[in-house]
Order: sequence, then structure tokens, then C-alpha cells
Amino acid sequence: MNQPNELGTPDQYGVVGHPVEHSWSPFIHGMFAKSTAQNLVYRLFDITAENFRRDTLKLFASGVRGLNVTLPHKQAAAELVNELTPRATRAQAVNTIAFFEDTTLLGDNTDGVGLTSDLERNLQLDLADKRLLILGAGGAVRGVLGPLLEREVREVVIANRTPVKAQKIAAEFADMGKISGCAFSELRGPAYDLIINGTSASLQGEMPLLPAGIVGDTTVCYDMAYGRGQTPFTLWAKSLHAARATKGWGMLVEQAAESFYLWRGIRPNTQPALEALSHHS
Ligand code: ATR
Repeated sequence: MNQPNELGTPDQYGVVGHPVEHSWSPFIHGMFAKSTAQNLVYRLFDITAENFRRDTLKLFASGVRGLNVTLPHKQAAAELVNELTPRATRAQAVNTIAFFEDTTLLGDNTDGVGLTSDLERNLQLDLADKRLLILGAGGAVRGVLGPLLEREVREVVIANRTPVKAQKIAAEFADMGKISGCAFSELRGPAYDLIINGTSASLQGEMPLLPAGIVGDTTVCYDMAYGRGQTPFTLWAKSLHAARATKGWGMLVEQAAESFYLWRGIRPNTQPALEALSHHS
């Protein structure tokens, strides 16, 4: 753990991504820092894929003590760090990097615990024995599969625009439970209990074409993306009369709290941030 710096120059943290200007992480970490009396600043760093390695290492060399990593860099970040936590090793994707004085960069993945905390604690869902469909097969999905499969779900199907990537991830996690990968067009009913959108399609205002029979009136639809108003995914879910269509604000806050804990050794109360963001969504 880095020692808290209560006086003097604030410790530097931030998030790297591309695009990243939509991120609410500075707001959330600002709230956490205030409520736990930590002297830190948290900024946005827009870095493209081709410059990711060079520019991220430069940030750490300039004194940055921790970074969150968002799309499209989560898998590249797993290759950049010197050491991975067990959950980041499982995911082969990193959303949190901590810099330690002995020049070690530790990569962690707090996305999974962020999602399961939001589903179970905030939304009161019981995942045991449920059938799950996950859309997308990028770094964000890699992070959440381990914690979801640990809940003893009945089945996980991963569907992706590039089906071979879904099949590859399914093979990597096959030791943890019943999991398979396919193309969107191969999906069939009966309706799933939970459908999670882990694609970045909504950033382009898009929604993959999916067969209608996979949503029923008890299906919960969860968009890992967040933003103001409806997303193409929540609109789709509502048009099919899903029981619930939720955006990933809660996951964002919960994964941030876990990153903050890794960096500062203090676990912030997430309730004030959850309430503040519910007014913005
Ligand atoms: P992230 O960190 O958010 O997972 P990523 O690793 O770049 O970012 O992965 C993006 C995911 O969104 C991928 O599953 C991608 O599908 P492909 O594997 O076929 O590229 C998916 N995605 C992006 N744009 C999409 C779109 N317009 N329609 C459907 N899927 C899309």
C-alpha cells in the first residue's frame, strides 16, 4: 500500500482510455478522497492504442501512483505490468494499476467484484442457478467472468460480433463452469435470466441485432456501459418488456471503490457516490 500523503503535494491518479472524456471516474474518486481525507488528484489521460505502452510508462515515471485502465487498453495493460493479482491473471485483463516504490507495477482487475457487488448488493439479485448471456468478448467481459462463474450460475453463453473471440474466452474459463461462445445470430430462447451488455457498441450509438426470444418478462438486462438517458441496449430491453433494464453506474462506483482500496488501503463508503450518480443518470 502507498502511504497516505495528508499534507503537501497531492498524490496523482487517473484513468487511461480512448476515448475517455465521458468518464465519471474523476468525480467518483474525488468523492472518495474527500470522504476518506486522502490528499490526491485524479485526472483523465486520453491515450491511443499505439501510444499506450510508452505514454503509460511515462506517467508512472513522472510520479503517477495509480491508474485505472478502460477501453481499449485492458488487455494491453495486462502485458505492461510486472505482476498480476490472481483475479487479473484469470482475466488476462487489467483495469487497475498500482505503482510501488520498488518500481513494481501491479495489475489488478476490479471489474468483476464491481459488477457482482452491484448485482447482488445494490440490485438484490441472486445469481445462483441462473442462465446468463454476455454480449461482447473484450477486456471488460474478461474481467467479470471469473466472479460470475464463482456464483454457481447454471450456464454462461458469450455472444460476440467476432464469434471466435467468444469461443476462445469460453475455452479459457471452461474449468469454472458451463460456458460457451457463439455469434449473435446463433442465439436462441428460452429467455435468459440475466443479459449483460459488455460490448462497446453503444459508444457508437449501436446495438447488435439479436433474436427476440432471448428476453422474457423475468429477464434482467444490465448494460455495463453508462451515460445519460437510455442506451441502445436499455431501449432494446424495454421494447421487449424485460423485467428490468439497468445501466452500469453501480458497477462503475463499486469497481472504483475496490481500486481506491488497492491504492490507499481504505475502503470508501459507496452509498453517497451511488446516490449522486443516480441523479445524473
Ligand atoms: P472493452 O475494454 O470495453 O471490452 P474492447 O476490448 O475493445 O473494449 O472490446 C470491445 C467489445 O465490444 C468487443 O467484444 C467488440 O466486438 P469484436 O470482438 O467483434 O470487435 C464489441 N463491439 C464493439 N463495437 C461493436 C458493435 N458496433 N457491435 C457489436 N459489438 C461491438
